Amino acid sequence: MVADMPANIVQQEQVGPGQYRLTLYAPVIASCAVPGQFVYIRCTGSLDPMLRRPLSIHGVNRRKGEVLFLYQVVGRGTALLAAKRNGEQLAVMGPLGRGFTLPEPGQRVVLVGGGIGVAPLVFLGHELVQRKNQVCLLVGARSAHQLPVGKEGYTAPFELAVATDDGSCGHHGPVTDLLEKILAGEGADMVYACGPRHMLRQTASLLARFGVPGEFSLEERMGCGVGACLSCVCKTAGKGGEPFRYRRVCVEGPVFPADQLVWD
Ligand SMILES: Cc1cc2nc3c(=O)[nH]c(=O)nc-3n(C[C@H](O)[C@H](O)[C@H](O)COP(=O)(O)OP(=O)(O)OC[C@H]3O[C@@H](n4cnc5c(N)ncnc54)[C@H](O)[C@@H]3O)c2cc1C
Ligand code: FES
Repeated sequence: MVADMPANIVQQEQVGPGQYRLTLYAPVIASCAVPGQFVYIRCTGSLDPMLRRPLSIHGVNRRKGEVLFLYQVVGRGTALLAAKRNGEQLAVMGPLGRGFTLPEPGQRVVLVGGGIGVAPLVFLGHELVQRKNQVCLLVGARSAHQLPVGKEGYTAPFELAVATDDGSCGHHGPVTDLLEKILAGEGADMVYACGPRHMLRQTASLLARFGVPGEFSLEERMGCGVGACLSCVCKTAGKGGEPFRYRRVCVEGPVFPADQLVWD
């Protein structure tokens, strides 16, 4: 079920430089959202900016009817969103899109988050722990102060390893170095990732090398959010001799099998 309705801001808190954690009271969305799905949010009470902004669901509290988001201010829409205060209302549509496919209980799973791309993976990690999967979350950021995991992530009941480009926290280098070490050592049954394109591309190449299946959540720019405008398409493997096929991230994604994505 997709709801389009006003939602009260329960809590808006800054968790890092330009990074916010937003809790909305949206019981219909909280009741049916699955990890990997997103919500299309109107950042102001007016039609300026006209387009809503997509944010992944970072967590749900089904008992309280709350939905959590973790977002980075990158432009006008997210800056307007960050200016909203507790008790104000936002128009939200969701849950939208296709979520992650869940692995068999007991399987070992690695989650790879680049920057704010960690947002949907924390929701997934909590769900997987409940299903008795062994979960390891790898988080990459430019430096320690930009680590976007937030309080929720650090207290989460799964293994956590960090990589920073400048070496100020955890491994000095890309987060994919950590993934490579795991795949070459104890291995993994499934890898889920979300983050910048170059990180996903490198992750895809590691998965192909080690023969491990994976799913990636893509963050293309969106127009309508519901499959009508084609502004969000990504290139995927073609069928029946086609070299490739465009697919809409808002309805056929945002989650796609890693081996179906075309990176040129
Ligand atoms: C399915 C989905 C889930 C997402 N989940 C999250 C999330 O959980 N947390 C979060 O912080 N962000 C998330 N994003 C990205 C977020 O939607 C954009 O950052 C936001 O829409 C930017 O709006 P803006 O008005 O602030 O920036 P704009 O003024 O529109 O753009 C500012 C800059 O950011 C770039 N940009 C804008 N949108 C995107 C995008 N989608 N991907 C890459 N670059 C972009 C622009 O090219 C420009 O350089 C998600 C995107 C998608 C499609
Ligand atoms: S945003 Fe319009 S088709 Fe995806």
